[in-house]
Amino acid sequence: METPVFIYDLRRLKERLDLFGEVHRISGVKVLYSIKAQPHAGLLRWIGPKVRGFSVSSLFEARLAREVLIERGLQDHPLHLTSPGLKLRDLEPLKSLDVTISYNSLEQLQRCEGAGVLEGGKTSLRINPGLSSIPDPRYDPCRPRSKLGIPLEDLQEAINMNLKSINGVAGLHFHSHYDQPDAEPLRQILERIEKSLGVWLLNLQWINIGGGYAPRSLSEAQALGAVIHSFREKTGLEILMEPGKGLVGAAGRLETTVIDRFTRDGKTIAVLDTGVHHLPEVFEYQRPPRIEEASPKGPHEVLLVGSSCLAGDLFGLYRFEAPIKVGDRLTILDVGAYAMVKASRFNGFDFPDLVILDEEGLFGPPSRGGYEAYRGQWGLE
Ligand SMILES: Cc1ncc(COP(=O)(O)O)c(C=O)c1O
Repeated sequence: METPVFIYDLRRLKERLDLFGEVHRISGVKVLYSIKAQPHAGLLRWIGPKVRGFSVSSLFEARLAREVLIERGLQDHPLHLTSPGLKLRDLEPLKSLDVTISYNSLEQLQRCEGAGVLEGGKTSLRINPGLSSIPDPRYDPCRPRSKLGIPLEDLQEAINMNLKSINGVAGLHFHSHYDQPDAEPLRQILERIEKSLGVWLLNLQWINIGGGYAPRSLSEAQALGAVIHSFREKTGLEILMEPGKGLVGAAGRLETTVIDRFTRDGKTIAVLDTGVHHLPEVFEYQRPPRIEEASPKGPHEVLLVGSSCLAGDLFGLYRFEAPIKVGDRLTILDVGAYAMVKASRFNGFDFPDLVILDEEGLFGPPSRGGYEAYRGQWGLE
């Protein structure tokens, strides 16, 4: 197989699905897969029948998700959407795709109501519970002056004022976690929501507790299930959750090849046939990814770098047992989420291929665009 290539291992994906299955068994929570993490049709087809539905963030994602669901005979599976970027012109098509929308602000809700396409009883609000569990503000929807969701205090005020537009609200949504294996931050948020909204909350039909959950063991899944179960018992609400990375992150790896090697200022540098254009989050968040072949105590230290023109397109310093040579293959681990969707053709490099690995081997349509797709992107019809 040529590199660079993303390989999705369905056995790893199944392990994660089983953990969320345990959360469901204990609590009755309905799991929606958040396709923004990785919307490849091959994966959606496989995940679709194993979850309750999909969570989407735009009209395109909604269309893709609905197409796959219909193709799989799962047309009754729900689609949920929330976005600060919702446009009035998207409302009619979203309605025809039967998408439930959680409005990101009261202003967004009122503007959409004004357009006259909302269905009574299907309205939902995204709230900001105002409790941070994420130290890095770049990932934190509860950061100060957050653009994501209605602050709980503002919703309380709207309830007290009996604001007309919230009368038809049937559900609530929040998304406040990132890669969180622990159930305690959720418990605290649910407690705060219950205290703030009181009886008003009990009149709703459902609450969507967002994504960012990452149980890695049965005991973590059970702890999460117990917190959700207890909230469900107290409120009687239907509960949904929408993990993305927690399902597909560990299932995806990127195979890459060393295409050049030289020494600068006494350090060995190895250039890979990938980089910021395929793994933008490595640069965005300055997080060195895990490399399968690296060995923390190995005698050979190498600076692994990406192949784009950006001086800071670096993976980091790694140690290996043997010297790294041109032609060596390296495997970048746990990059199944938010890589391919954020990838670009920066410098004119093509997208990597994507293949799916199951018990019987590799399958999947090639996703590399080729020169035809590249020239089309830049206006050469
Ligand atoms: C509203 C919403 N739901 C779900 C998710 C999925 O989160 P994760 O991939 O961390 O599980 C996100 C991620 O940004 C989100 O914004």
